[in-house]
Amino acid sequence: MSEFHVRAAAEGEQRACLELLVEALHGKPVSDEVWAKMVASWPAAGKFAAFDDQGTLVGIASSFDTELTVPGGRKLATAAVDGVGVRADWTRRGVLTSMMAAQLADLAARGVPLAALHASEGVIYGRFGYGAATYGKGVVVERPRARLRDGVGCDGVVRFVTPAEAVERVPALYRRFAGDRPGFIARPDMWWPGFFDRLVTGDEGYRVAVHSGPDGDDGFVVYQSVDVRDRQTPERGALLQIRELHAATPRAWAGLWRFLLSVDLVSSVEGRGRPMDEPIAELLTDPRAVNTTEVIDDLWVRLIDVLAALEARTYGPAEPVVLEVLEVLDRQLPANNGRYVVGQSGVQRTTAEPDLRLGVDTLASLYLGHGLFSDQVLAGRVEVLDEAAAARADTLFHTARAPWCGTFF
Ligand SMILES: CC(C)(COP(=O)(O)OP(=O)(O)OC[C@H]1O[C@@H](n2cnc3c(N)ncnc32)[C@H](O)[C@@H]1OP(=O)(O)O)[C@@H](O)C(=O)NCCC(=O)NCCS
Repeated sequence: MSEFHVRAAAEGEQRACLELLVEALHGKPVSDEVWAKMVASWPAAGKFAAFDDQGTLVGIASSFDTELTVPGGRKLATAAVDGVGVRADWTRRGVLTSMMAAQLADLAARGVPLAALHASEGVIYGRFGYGAATYGKGVVVERPRARLRDGVGCDGVVRFVTPAEAVERVPALYRRFAGDRPGFIARPDMWWPGFFDRLVTGDEGYRVAVHSGPDGDDGFVVYQSVDVRDRQTPERGALLQIRELHAATPRAWAGLWRFLLSVDLVSSVEGRGRPMDEPIAELLTDPRAVNTTEVIDDLWVRLIDVLAALEARTYGPAEPVVLEVLEVLDRQLPANNGRYVVGQSGVQRTTAEPDLRLGVDTLASLYLGHGLFSDQVLAGRVEVLDEAAAARADTLFHTARAPWCGTFF
């Protein structure tokens, strides 16, 4: 079997990295035109690449530096892993495992406490210590049935903006509320061109509408309308597919939904990956106008530095618990192995007997406030050494709002 080696990608290798990634994800070949648009947002920094013994690229793992909002509102340095692929004729030979090891070691050495990604499949990243930490739901609102309760979302104005205005205004608008929820990430400047090129200024034809309230612009929606008529249903209206809907205030949020549900010749409005606690049905006189069509993992998180990550967030009102944390594979980040006392007054390493024992992947899935320790006990992923501790941990880690990322990368 041929050998391979992994190293940081060098300047000049970025396009080959992108081509390999796109091919692994079954995308279209990267044309010169596409590359010209991508080049600024696809630097060599943050990329690890695998090469065969002829020096040919066979794998790529990419990330960019950002910040993630953790419970309590602190923004923690985070590596957003935005591209992972292995050439189809090189899979299942440990290439990804080697690239992940190199990436985790680099992040630990650089003092980056968290990594995060969106996974193409649910089976890939647990073994590298990642846990599914936020979820999103798919919703379809049947417009003919969807009547808003009186007064909902009436006090603002929604206006379309041109693609050029969207490029100008939307990033600043997003920055206003980017810290609101656990799981949000900061969108660096290099994130936006890809988004706009793909959806708004290119051929996809997404529309951008901005909501204004008493203090000016306070929310936006990016959506496309899809013609879903066929011979059997020639009268059916369009489907509005929401790509993004973000708002700084509840009123702006309701106003954007009011707008979408007011568009003529529309049969349904669909959102995917919406926050689990988004109360759309509560806006309507008939809550059954909203169908939840799916629940799907959103952001996977890896605690690179367990102590720093635990220290950064706040906790609910309960007596402390002692967690014993085990790395998934000892060789990955063994410094994380150990016991941590976690409470409202802080987090420290301890030698005390543990109350609960769990893998770093399970801790990651609970870290932002999604789910319960008690459920992970039921699932056999948390070992209980003190019977009362799971309920305490549930209260400590609970967050008022469901964690949600809402940014695809
Ligand atoms: C997913 C992918 C990167 C895995 O790369 P790889 O080099 O084959 O992974 P490895 O050989 O290091 O696999 C490590 C382990 O994970 C398992 N594994 C990896 N990918 C898997 C998958 N998609 N399904 C099931 N198991 C998988 C391997 O079987 C292996 O298990 P083992 O240690 O018990 O033998 C590669 O298959 C790929 O590029 N897929 C298409 C693009 C993609 O999905 N990228 C991820 C985007 S988030």
